Amino acid sequence: MNAELPDGAGYFGGFGGRFVPETLMPALHQLEHAYEEARQDESFQKELDYYLREYAGRPSPLYLAERFSERLGGGKVYVKREDLNHTGAHKINNTLGQTLLALRMGKKRVIAETGAGQHGLATATAAAMFGLSCDVYMGDEDIRRQKPNVLKMRLLGTRIMPVHTGAKTLKDATNEALRDWMASFEDTYYVLGSVVGPHPYPMMVRDFQSIIGREARRQILEKENRLPDYLVACVGGGSNSIGLFHPFLGDESVRMLAVEAGGRGSGLGEHAASLCWGAPGVLHGSKSYILQDEDGQTSPVHSLAPGLDYPGVGPELSFLKSTGRLQCDAVTDQEALDAFRFFAEIEGIIPALECAHAIAYLMREENRTAEDEISIICMSGRGDKDLFEVGEILGLDSSEPQEDEG
Ligand SMILES: Cc1ncc(COP(=O)(O)O)c(C=O)c1O
Repeated sequence: MNAELPDGAGYFGGFGGRFVPETLMPALHQLEHAYEEARQDESFQKELDYYLREYAGRPSPLYLAERFSERLGGGKVYVKREDLNHTGAHKINNTLGQTLLALRMGKKRVIAETGAGQHGLATATAAAMFGLSCDVYMGDEDIRRQKPNVLKMRLLGTRIMPVHTGAKTLKDATNEALRDWMASFEDTYYVLGSVVGPHPYPMMVRDFQSIIGREARRQILEKENRLPDYLVACVGGGSNSIGLFHPFLGDESVRMLAVEAGGRGSGLGEHAASLCWGAPGVLHGSKSYILQDEDGQTSPVHSLAPGLDYPGVGPELSFLKSTGRLQCDAVTDQEALDAFRFFAEIEGIIPALECAHAIAYLMREENRTAEDEISIICMSGRGDKDLFEVGEILGLDSSEPQEDEG
């Protein structure tokens, strides 16, 4: 397996590339050169390592979920605790890297798109820490369902740019952020939040997120003296999953499972499972698996998890799927909700709705592992942001004692 992709034009096999209006090309060239230089500069890497350690709190633990493993009745399940990072998700790994790059490029303002609010929050946080001004595009629907993150971003001095178009979710927010950047790249850096978009973003975001897999590889070898059998991660755009998978790509015995949002069912518009049920197409500047209708128009999507509610997926995952290296499956809203609750009760860890999808995958009867097998789940974020939404769905009222409470 070639871990050296993409090629010089940003292609992972037949996926990736740069499908953008001419006016955006200078911005992408500028970014590509700046990143190439930074990537080879030891002082940039050192500075990034410093902030990942001292500010974000890395390395994140690789925790053996003992009670969860026992209840499943199969092999050991470890969780890579990205939820313990500052700001509560893996997104900070990427935003610290990109914000340092923005500073190196002399930019004064950063912009970002966000769905679940975790990427927006991580960008707002890094911008506050480094003294940059920050605008975050967010769809109205996501502003409604991710209130805690909206409040946090505002507290950090970020301006929320509400997006009223389309389904008012992540795709629409990304459209608006790209539009802003096209007109503002002279002084503005666009911190893209996943391994999507035109080259060099899928490569760059993957590089920044690969810290997850590098640590996990080292940690599992220390704990078990061998590599895991399965890596399991949820997929929105694909950054936490490729971050975990990439350092294991050359290890052929390690199987990789991408878990997508099966939403309410397999009908178009009811889910967001682009790898499972999409077809190759172009979205937000690169070629990958896309959910589209018969006319090739990007289709509406649905997921209870706002971070998965996106009709595309990164080109590298698309390539890995096309070669058979990556397996994928989709988990429904209900399964994710059940896993959210089950994992909280049995492990004392409230997962984000996004990674509850990865947990739910392993909970399916047919996916139980053998006793001598080891799995690692990427716990991409914590569930604080989802409490209001889940509380409402489950009918949990914080002001009223439950019947079985004292
Ligand atoms: C906690 C969490 N997990 C996963 C995702 C999905 O993104 P990605 O596939 O890029 O990791 C998000 C996106 O917002 C998120 O907030």
